[in-house]
Amino acid sequence: MKLVYLETYGCQMNVADSELMLGVLGRAGYEQTMDPEVADVMLVNTCAVRDNAEQRVIGRVGELMRHKRPGDLLGVVGCMAQRLGPVLLERVPRVDLVVGPDAYRNLPSLIEHALRGGRISDTEFRSWEHYEDVPPVRTPGATQFVTVQRGCDYRCTFCIVPYTRGPERSRTLEDLVRDVRGLVEQGTTEVTLLGQTVNSWNDGRHDFADLLRAVGAVDGIRRIRFTSPYPTDFTDRVIEAMATTDAVCEHVHLPAQSGSNAVLRRMLRRYTRETYLSVVERLRAAMPGITMSTDIIVGFPGETEAQFEETVSLVREAAFDDAYTFKYSVRDGTPAVKLPDRVTDEVASARLSRLIESVRAQTRARNMGRVGSTHEVLVERPARRGDMMLGRTRTNFLVLVDLPEEAAGEYHEVRLTGTTGSTFTGAIVAPQLAVL
Ligand code: 5AD
Repeated sequence: MKLVYLETYGCQMNVADSELMLGVLGRAGYEQTMDPEVADVMLVNTCAVRDNAEQRVIGRVGELMRHKRPGDLLGVVGCMAQRLGPVLLERVPRVDLVVGPDAYRNLPSLIEHALRGGRISDTEFRSWEHYEDVPPVRTPGATQFVTVQRGCDYRCTFCIVPYTRGPERSRTLEDLVRDVRGLVEQGTTEVTLLGQTVNSWNDGRHDFADLLRAVGAVDGIRRIRFTSPYPTDFTDRVIEAMATTDAVCEHVHLPAQSGSNAVLRRMLRRYTRETYLSVVERLRAAMPGITMSTDIIVGFPGETEAQFEETVSLVREAAFDDAYTFKYSVRDGTPAVKLPDRVTDEVASARLSRLIESVRAQTRARNMGRVGSTHEVLVERPARRGDMMLGRTRTNFLVLVDLPEEAAGEYHEVRLTGTTGSTFTGAIVAPQLAVL
């Protein structure tokens, strides 16, 4: 029995990909260990979306090297592996394996090759690869990820993902429904559908609206989430399906990237501020109480002070409940590398701080107004500190509740009793006694 240690960085798709890798390796006789010290093979599943994500991985690979005994292997897999390819083998002599997202099926043979002393990389794109026959090894739990689409056909000028994950491909509706049924049998009640532009999912016969309805019709599925959608792929059909499928949660993560039309154009986003806001409006009209989060990049090449201010005002106008904010990071190989008028790091940092400040204030104000309201909470896991459990509302609020660990996977009616500004504390609402 060989032991594999696997560490995951980056997005939810990477978490799902790590589950696939454990599936591939499991079939080849490997077992997972949580201790790098005893592992025969150590793998780091990486992100390439920003330079700081890559720097963190480089630091971590350096640390893991210390656990390498003679005969052990260290592999870098995922988007950074794909981006750098064989160059990574040249630059880091103690890395034995470099494997991109379309090559995970080959992991056992690549490992065999490396064990015989041949350091090796596989970064070929295989646009047919869905890993359809590979059963992912998932951490048991009520909530699970389901990858519905791999790769990306959009060409946002800042983004490395099309070059690390290859062309877009969708799994079929029938395969996905079968998967979800299987998950329900193992106790899953909530699924998060994953894709780079998930609402552009299309298997040639069905669109994303069909998929939402089909997954929602699976007996036992109480909640459906999906990430990340592309703003202009919210067709009327998709919004209608969201509104009329009970399981679809009242929360959407809707990456805006910028509030300035000039910046959006340079990013090659396929919408304007106005069309973005009309999507927000249509979603709110169709699903009362829906909450929204977003992704924003500041300091994109050519971004002026006035254009940055338009982003700040978009946050207000769209009334986001939360935002993930990033400083633009130049990615070699992306079209934006060639854009003039780069913003200095100093200016970008100052803008990022200002944006974070206004997002925080808005989130806090919106959340304060929610204290006292009652929500259905799915209990997920023990909180990091204290002996409380962490749960999530349909609207994606994190709530601390006083429940034992065995409550994981349960649904409870919870009244929000307080907020730190970002997360909540909650009290279980006593079940109403039936009047005799
Ligand atoms: N620099 C900074 N942020 C980026 N993102 C993607 N590429 C870059 C980049 N080059 C952000 C976007 C995306 C999120 C996942 O990461 O906001 O939505």
